[in-house]
Amino acid sequence: MRLLTDNPVTEPADDAFHFGPYVSMLHAAVERAEPLPLTVGVFGSWGTGKSSLLRLWEHRLKEKKVPTIWFNPWKYDRKVEVWAALLHTILAEMETKQGLREKALRLAKAATWLSVRAGLGTAASLATGGVVKSGDVDTMLTELAEGDAEQYRQINRFENDFRDAVEEFVGTDGRLVVFVDDLDRCTPESAMTVLESLKLFLGESRCVFVLALDLDVLAAVATNKFGDAFKDAPAEVVSGLAYLDKIVQLPFFLPDVSFETLRSAFASYVVQREDDDDFWELLRRGLGANPRRLKRFVNVFNMALGIAAAQAGSAQDRAFRLQLAALLVIRSRHRDFFHLLAADPTSWETLVTFFRRRQDTPEKREQHRLALPTELDPFADDRTLEALLAWRGGPVGVPSVETVRSMITTVRTTTGPDRLSAADL
Ligand SMILES: Nc1ncnc2c1ncn2[C@@H]1O[C@H](COP(=O)(O)OP(=O)(O)OP(=O)(O)O)[C@@H](O)[C@H]1O
Ligand SMILES: [Mg+2]
Repeated sequence: MRLLTDNPVTEPADDAFHFGPYVSMLHAAVERAEPLPLTVGVFGSWGTGKSSLLRLWEHRLKEKKVPTIWFNPWKYDRKVEVWAALLHTILAEMETKQGLREKALRLAKAATWLSVRAGLGTAASLATGGVVKSGDVDTMLTELAEGDAEQYRQINRFENDFRDAVEEFVGTDGRLVVFVDDLDRCTPESAMTVLESLKLFLGESRCVFVLALDLDVLAAVATNKFGDAFKDAPAEVVSGLAYLDKIVQLPFFLPDVSFETLRSAFASYVVQREDDDDFWELLRRGLGANPRRLKRFVNVFNMALGIAAAQAGSAQDRAFRLQLAALLVIRSRHRDFFHLLAADPTSWETLVTFFRRRQDTPEKREQHRLALPTELDPFADDRTLEALLAWRGGPVGVPSVETVRSMITTVRTTTGPDRLSAADL
C-alpha cells in the first residue's frame, strides 16, 4: 500500500493538475508590471492547491533568477510580532547581498525599535528572523534611543530607506517577490496586521506580494475587524471583500480541478480495482473534487480495507468495497447519520427504502415522509446523502445489518473514536 502525502507540489514534474499555464500567465502579468509594489491574491478553498501554485511559481521565478522570499505569518502569534517578522524576513534576505549588509542591519534595528515602540513590550521575545540576535536587542535599543531611532520617529523615513534598500537589492527594473502563504491560518488580528503593514511600511518598495488565502476565511476576518465600526453601514461596506479589494490589485481564483484529473492522479494509489468506474462515481458524488479530501479518503480507504480483510480472514468482494467506501463517506460528510447508524444499523435500509419509494412514487411523498421514523426525518431532504445511497442503477446496494456493524468496527479501528477525530477524515 502506497500512501498519498499531502505536501504542496514544488516541481513542475509533479504538477498533475496542470497548473503550469496559470503560473505562466501570472508570471507574465507581474514580470514587468509597473508601478510597484503590486499585490497578487491567490484565492481558493481549503486544500485546493494554493500553496502548490505558489511553490510552482517560486520555482519559475528562481529559474529566471528573480529574487523571492517565503513568509509564513502564522508562525508569529502576536500582531506586532508578525509585521516585524515580515520586515525582518525581507531584510535577512537582503543582508546576504554584498554591500547591503550594513544597510539591512540598520533597517532591521530600526524595525525592531519601531515594533517595540508599537507596543511589543519586552524586546527580547521579538522574532527577528536572525538578523539581530536577541541577546543584542537590549543594548541595541539603548543605543538606538539616542541615535538612529530619532530618525525613525517619522515612519516615512523608514519607508523611504526601506524602498532604497530594496531597489539596491533588485535593481531599478527588478522586483522582489514575497510569498505570504496561509494568511488565513493566522489569528484574525495578525492577518489584518500583515495586510495593513503591506500598505504602511512597504508602500513604495519594488516588491510583488503574493498572498494565498481562503477568501471565505479572510472575508470573515476583515468583516470581524470592521464589523463594529460599520455596524450601520450597507452590507457591501461591511464586507471584508471590500477591504481586500483595496489591497489586492491582481486577484487570481484558483480554477477547479476536474474530478477526472484527480482520478487519474490518484487512481494508482487505490488498492485493487483502481479502474472501477462505480467506485469513482461514488467518490465524486460523496466527496466532490477537492484534492485534499480525496487524497485522505484514498489513504483511509486502503487502510480500512486491509483491516477488514484481516478481521474477516479473507479478501472482501466488490459489493463490500463499495459499501465500505460509502460508509467512509458517511462518516466524514454525514456524521449525524453515521452516529445514528452506529446506534441502529437498520437505519441504512430504512432510509434507502424511503428514498427509493419517494423516487418511484413522488405523488405519495407526504405519505412516505409520515411513515419515516422520526430520527430519520432530518435526513429526508439531504440530496447528497440520497445521491450517495439511493443512486438509480448504482451498485452500492444495502448492506446487511451484520455488515453495517462489522464495517463500523473496521472504520473505528482505522480512524479512531468518532468524536476525537477531525470531521474531514
Ligand atoms: N498541481 C498539483 N499537482 C498534483 N497535486 C497537487 C497539485 N496542487 C496541489 N496538489 C495536492 O493537493 C493537495 C492540496 O494542495 P495544497 O496544500 O497546495 O492546497 P492549499 O490550497 O494550499 O491548502 P490549504 O488550504 O490547507 O492551504 C496536496 O496534497 C497537494 O499535493
Ligand atoms: Mg496551503
